[in-house]
Formats: sequence, structure tokens, C-alpha cells
Amino acid sequence: MAKRPIEPFRIKAVEPISLLPEAQRRRIIKEVGFNVFRIRAEDVFIDLLTDSGTGSLSQFQQAGLMIGDESYAGSRNWFHFEQTVKEIFQKKFVLPCHQGRVAENILFSTILKKGDYVPNNTHFDTTRANTMHKGGIPVDFPCREADDERSDFPFKGNMDIDRLRAFIQKVGPDRVPVIIITVTNNSVGGLPVSMANIAAVRGVCDEFGIPLFFDAARYAENAYFIKRHESGYEDRTIMSIAQEMCGHADGIMMSAKKDGLANMGGFLAINDEKLLGRLQEMLILIEGFLTYGGLNGRDLEAIAIGLKEALCEDYLDYRVGQIRYFGEMLQQVGCPIVTPTGGHGIFADAGKLLPHIEPAHFPAQSMVVELYRRGGIRAVEIGSMMFGDKDPNTGKAVAPKRELVRMAVPRRMYTASHLEYVVDIVAEIVKDKDRLRGYRIVKEPAYLRHFTCELEEMAGYPAGAISG
Ligand code: F0G
Repeated sequence: MAKRPIEPFRIKAVEPISLLPEAQRRRIIKEVGFNVFRIRAEDVFIDLLTDSGTGSLSQFQQAGLMIGDESYAGSRNWFHFEQTVKEIFQKKFVLPCHQGRVAENILFSTILKKGDYVPNNTHFDTTRANTMHKGGIPVDFPCREADDERSDFPFKGNMDIDRLRAFIQKVGPDRVPVIIITVTNNSVGGLPVSMANIAAVRGVCDEFGIPLFFDAARYAENAYFIKRHESGYEDRTIMSIAQEMCGHADGIMMSAKKDGLANMGGFLAINDEKLLGRLQEMLILIEGFLTYGGLNGRDLEAIAIGLKEALCEDYLDYRVGQIRYFGEMLQQVGCPIVTPTGGHGIFADAGKLLPHIEPAHFPAQSMVVELYRRGGIRAVEIGSMMFGDKDPNTGKAVAPKRELVRMAVPRRMYTASHLEYVVDIVAEIVKDKDRLRGYRIVKEPAYLRHFTCELEEMAGYPAGAISG
């Protein structure tokens, strides 16, 4: 059992939270069509929906907000932001934007043609949707270990180099305008990519003349795992590991809402001057001028400070230790999870916990609903509801390999006792698991359906299940 992680901070401002009575929670979840994205945040007790933009700012970031310069062009905070991004991510040009998916949109609108392929270790949902929206075809090449439940390989976020190379040979490099590595690999459990794997993907890019981009939302957590698990990096600073990682990429797409330790923000960073002008045109068109990109001056300052705080080793020891501790407690109460644990949350294996509910009836969503009913806890389904959208280009639905419930942990926000409370609620669900029911979708949009779709609980399926 991991040591109880001690928060390396004390709390200076508090935000009250409260648990609504159970009858009210049961009514609310039904009213929102069993979709937790539609619940009012104030009706949630412990919010593990995402680690994105939800963390606490440090006293230094709060102080930074006060020196926000809201000039339209050339604010001082922009220069601090630009210099920090260049230092860590090792790129010549920086384009600010208000969140990661805009970086995706700007890049893909500029470089993708209809029918182009975009390989990734595993696309995150917005990256997949943005690729498809521009007529591209997202393809995932997770490493083989990612699917091997018995393997404790630490770098399950890696890309499968052989399959990547074979694919490019088959379709031809002209139809592959970019290769992306997502660090850490959110969709396989927030697990990291090793430096050796990054270097190998770089090799494939060089072989075929294809640029390499990182989807770098959790770059600091990835660098920390390299320090802990990859030989040769034990004595390196996290900053120098992050710089080495990013040095392999031609460009970076970043959501600063994760390892930027900020509530809003993102950027694109590149070296290619020829690409710059076209990206800048799009940036001005959809986000704003080149020195603010849809952000306030004070946001740029908070991100500049946060990007560096995320690289502090005592913070990362606590951050990754907290996730490991949470995972070990969940396993002790009989909840199957994806192992080893990653950097930003726990992925419970609802497919395994609830084998009586078929993937078509969303076992992971059934667990998500139950977490809210029983504990006022909000988590997110990562399974057939999230990934079962039909690809508008092919008309086919993507069948996920597992039915997972992600309990993402916001940065520097919840203490060990909050997580222990969540474990107590999961323990109750594990005891009653045979009584959970399946769901069916009654309303859905064309893209990213999990955000807005509505569901109904299936009466009598499976027989004997509890009533909503
Ligand atoms: N890439 C990755 C790997 C992500 O995890 C996210 C967001 C994005 C890109 C998009 O960034 O939200 O700033 O537009 N992930 C959040 C999550 C939403 O809950 O995992 P964004």
C-alpha cells in the first residue's frame, strides 16, 4: 500500500461544498437525462468530472492575476507567457489560444486535406472530433502492452512503432500530414510515453518526412514518470526532461488547463516559419490578436507561472502519489481499475465490475449514475457512450476496448480524506453491483454525443435491478 500522500501546501482560501439529500440527488439525475454533464456544479459534492481547468491557483498565480495587463496588443503578460513556453517547449513561435481544442482546430484547418490520415498513440475525444470535422481520418496506434491487463509496464501510453510504420507504408506518407503523440495518453488511463518511444516515433517521422506534434496537455506528469521509470533519467530535473521530450517535436498543441495549472488557456508552438503565417491568420480570425489569442492578460500571467509550478518535483511526487493511493484503496474494496495508475485520475473498469450489462447498454454510465445517486460524486464515462459515435466519414461506430469510468482528480484541490470518501461510496456500489441497470440513449447530437445526449434507465434490464 502506498504511503498516504501529504499535500505539500496549506489551504489559504476555502470554497464550501455540500452534499444534497439522497432523494434530491435521485431526482436531479433523472431530470438531466442521466447525463452528469447536465447537472449544476453546485449540486455535486465531489467533482471528479475532469482535471481540466478545475484545479486551484497558487498564491503566486493569484498575485500574477493582479499584474494582468489588458492591453489589446503586446501586453507584458504575453511576453512572460511567450518566453516561458519557448523555454520549456523549445519552439521558436508561440500562438496563444483559449483552450486546447482551438489549437487543434487551427492546426487541422491549416494542414489537413479531406481523406488525410492522422496517426496518434490514442486520440483524445476533441482531437478525434476535430480531425474528423476537417475531413481527416484519425487512427490510433497504442502499444500492445496498453491492452494487456496483467502487464505492469509503466509506459503503456507508448505508440506501437511497427504498426505505425506499416500503416504509413501502406497508405503512403503523402496522405499523412502529421503524426501526433499524446502525453500523457489520456484515453489509455493517463499513462505516460517513454523518451525512447518518443525518439522512435521521431525516427519514423524523419524516415517519411512527416512532422511530429505533441498533444502536450499533461507534459509535466509525463516527464515525472520518465524520471521515475526510465533508466538514465533518475538524476535529471523535470524541466530538463520536459525540454528533451519537446525537443523531439516539430510542434506542440497544448491545453494549459491541465499542466498549465490554469483555469483557461492553451497554445500552439512551432518551429516552421512557413506554417506560421497561415496559423496566425486562423488565430486572428477565430480567437484574437497574436498576443492574446482569446485570453485575458491575467490568464496569460497565471499560465506562465503555472507551467513552471507544474514542473516542481515535490508537487509531482504528491500529485502522482495521490493518484496511486486512490487507486490502491479502490482495489482494496474490490473495484477493478486500469493499472498501473497514471497521472491524472483513476479509470475504473466498469465492464469488469458489471458484466451483466452489455456495452450497448453502457455499464460505465450505469456506475457514473450510481456514484452521483449514492455519494453526490461526478465522474465521467469513457466507453461506448463516449466513443460509440458514428464516424461521419465512414458511418461506422468505433467500439471501445473497455468500458471505463474516469475519476479525474483536479490539481491541488481535494485532500486524501476527500478521496477516502469516494472510496467508501465505491465500496457500497461494489457490494450492490448486481442490482445496477442498463441505459439507452433517447436523444443524441452528431458529434461528441456524451456531452449532451439524454438517456433512460432500462426498466427490468437486467432483471432485479434497483429502481431509479
Ligand atoms: N488533448 C487532451 C489529451 C486532453 O485531455 C484534452 C482535454 C484536450 C486535448 C482538449 O483540451 O479541453 O483545453 O480544449 N481534456 C479534458 C479532459 C477535457 O477532461 O480530459 P481543452
